[in-house]
Amino acid sequence: MQSWASFAEGQNGIFDNEILKTIASKYNKSVAQVILRWLIQRGIAVIPKTLSKERMIENISVFDFALVSSDMEKIAEIGKNEFIICNHRELETINFLLNLAK
Ligand SMILES: NC(=O)c1ccc[n+]([C@@H]2O[C@H](COP(=O)([O-])OP(=O)(O)OC[C@H]3O[C@@H](n4cnc5c(N)ncnc54)[C@H](OP(=O)(O)O)[C@@H]3O)[C@@H](O)[C@H]2O)c1
Repeated sequence: MQSWASFAEGQNGIFDNEILKTIASKYNKSVAQVILRWLIQRGIAVIPKTLSKERMIENISVFDFALVSSDMEKIAEIGKNEFIICNHRELETINFLLNLAK
């Protein structure tokens, strides 16, 4: 499994989410680092994108802490089970992705 748009492309105020901010301050980490750590701890490969060297360093500095299971669960509850970028269950999207491989 690979996470595309781990930060939801910055949409939905993801970096200002109060639950993520509270957890981030508990570990003395940024919201971005908590998001990446939550994915990595679930065995998902992450490919965050940033134009900033400082954020690249921040985004790779996620291997010196671990979220406890109660925090993992709190983050899981934020999920809305909605597609916000593209719907991978729609025929049009599936065909688009299949054509990329041709
Ligand atoms: N979106 C998709 O559907 C999709 C599909 C296939 C593949 N991918 C690939 O997945 C990778 C990531 O996807 P993406 O760029 O669409 O979205 P993303 O990684 O979820 O979000 C990128 C946004 O997050 C910001 N950001 C990155 N690190 C940050 C940090 N530590 N703190 C605050 N903001 C931060 C970036 O701003 P700055 O650049 O200003 O730091 C940028 O606005 C890309 O390589 C893309 O090609 C995406």
